[in-house]
Amino acid sequence: MKLTRPASTSDAELFALRSARSAADLWEPLERLYGAHPGYMVFRDGLKTLLEDSWAARPTALRCLDLERDLKPGWFQQPDQVGYVFYIDRFAGNLRGVLEHIDYLKALGVTYVHFMPCLKPREGANDGGYSVEDYREINPALGTMADFEAVAAALRAEGIGICIDLVLNHTSESHAWAKAARAGDAVTEAYYHTFAEDTLPRQYEETLLEIFPDVAPGNFTFDEDLKKWVWTTFNTHQWDLNWTNPQVFLEIAEIMLFLLNKGAETLRLDAVAFMWKEMGTLCQNLPPVHDILQALRAVSRIAAPGSLLKAEAIVPPTELVAYLGKGIQSGKVSNLAYHNNLMVQFWSSLAARDTRLMAHVLGTHFPSNFKNATWATYLRCHDDIGWAITDEDADAVGWNAFSHRQFLADFYEGVFPGSFATGGLFQFNPATQDKRNNGTLASLAGLEKALEAGDPVATDDAVARILMGHALIASFGGLPLIYMGDELGTLNVRGEYEDGDTRLMQRPVMDWALATKRTDPATIEGRIFTGITHILARRAATPQLHAEHPTEILPGPAPAIFAFRRAAPGRPLVALFNFSEAPQRVPQEMLVEAGITAPFDTLSQTPLTPLEGWILLPPYAPLWLTN
Ligand code: GLC
Repeated sequence: MKLTRPASTSDAELFALRSARSAADLWEPLERLYGAHPGYMVFRDGLKTLLEDSWAARPTALRCLDLERDLKPGWFQQPDQVGYVFYIDRFAGNLRGVLEHIDYLKALGVTYVHFMPCLKPREGANDGGYSVEDYREINPALGTMADFEAVAAALRAEGIGICIDLVLNHTSESHAWAKAARAGDAVTEAYYHTFAEDTLPRQYEETLLEIFPDVAPGNFTFDEDLKKWVWTTFNTHQWDLNWTNPQVFLEIAEIMLFLLNKGAETLRLDAVAFMWKEMGTLCQNLPPVHDILQALRAVSRIAAPGSLLKAEAIVPPTELVAYLGKGIQSGKVSNLAYHNNLMVQFWSSLAARDTRLMAHVLGTHFPSNFKNATWATYLRCHDDIGWAITDEDADAVGWNAFSHRQFLADFYEGVFPGSFATGGLFQFNPATQDKRNNGTLASLAGLEKALEAGDPVATDDAVARILMGHALIASFGGLPLIYMGDELGTLNVRGEYEDGDTRLMQRPVMDWALATKRTDPATIEGRIFTGITHILARRAATPQLHAEHPTEILPGPAPAIFAFRRAAPGRPLVALFNFSEAPQRVPQEMLVEAGITAPFDTLSQTPLTPLEGWILLPPYAPLWLTN
């Protein structure tokens, strides 16, 4: 279709143009996924109708946002974009309460808030809200859908967009579909993977991993009502959806557009790696998963084009890139994906005071930038840290992967001699010796131990690690996410953890009394908060940090130094990070080769004068060098 009357283009015309723009992106993967299904033609019609109806129902304010973002497709890659992640109850009591803290968010420079699971969960244990009973209702403890719409509109007026979780891999066993299945409805039973006997489940188990070996061993659960086995990758109350069924796609697409029309601007697609199962495989990261994501992205791009999809795939380096689009899917899968490898390598380098593995992993497995997509960069999250370090990568730098992983788990549990960290263990698996860790940023970075010991030098080091980490995620390329409390140096939560979920160690309640110290530079809270706001303000003012500019990993001039170059045309930036408590030096030649001839640290706003051909990097210092 050709635009004939640009000045008066109607919504219907825009919809037709956007449908045409994304037609191939939508129907090609769907053809691959469901083309052979007997119900495919009916499914196609159903999806077309859904797209039209959802667009027709899209509120005007959101249509304006759509148009604005269509005209500025890289908006989410801009250096002034900053994310902040919190549980609504722990941050503000309830949904409406969030509006009382807009000033706080603005002081940090936040443009995006991720409300941790806020849709109606099952009663009782619900995996921190990831066992969803109703995708169309807000958790009643937090408010209503009307509150959500009001809060979304109020935040949008302040330039802040909301991200919410959409769990794609499973629903709660108390979801209406599962309840109907239990009551004998064959249609909704086919939304799940059920087995009359355990023969197939046992065969699948041969190649599956266990996600929660401690609390929910195995991947299948026998349901007493159904008298069948149900696929439950995570907890027994989380039933995996059967994505080979096109009806599941349709249902989820409908929910997705419903939530986007309520004012959610980003959907965090939870546990996407597990959506497709094939016998004899890990049932993770299979190619149909990327087809599903491509099709969902096309759905949102047609009927809610101002929105973003963010993939949560916490997977090894070689598997991660496909979630941002690889090969023919380049630029077509998720807009955002968590860079769990950057996070893991940050902690690995801090513990080892050695960045060689980090430089190898980040320099080998990842393209320097992406089309229409970028990373969500972060230092820790609400989950545990899994040490996703492969044998091949460790071999490449002459390390032993198994012992390095064990070292990291011990180090961040705080039991390795000399460790600065305080943390916890998560889901120790005696069969594989696999250990993961819990902890807040500040405790893992050494603040808890330093304060307990009353050691001012160790305290300075811990604060410096926290700030260096933020300088890293703010400059690497992507949308940096700050986890609530980290901006104040919040320590680990101690005590009994509900449902035995030790990840609650890193899910604190906001201490607003403590937060009042944030402007006082004489306090730890003040040093961290002002340090982070400074980093984010400098980020916003540094065009080289736009995510579209390639991130080229440079060979570190010393093991403790991590270096990369942001290749903005004509005005490169070189970022340097000292991962140790010893001062380091960088040869001026290296900078000259990278295009920095008159080094100016744009982070601290100071020119640097090389001394006898070297520039100095104080302990745990970040530098963002431009000319
Ligand atoms: C994601 C969530 C995690 C949850 C899991 C199952 O990984 O981040 O908290 O347990 O999905 O829903």
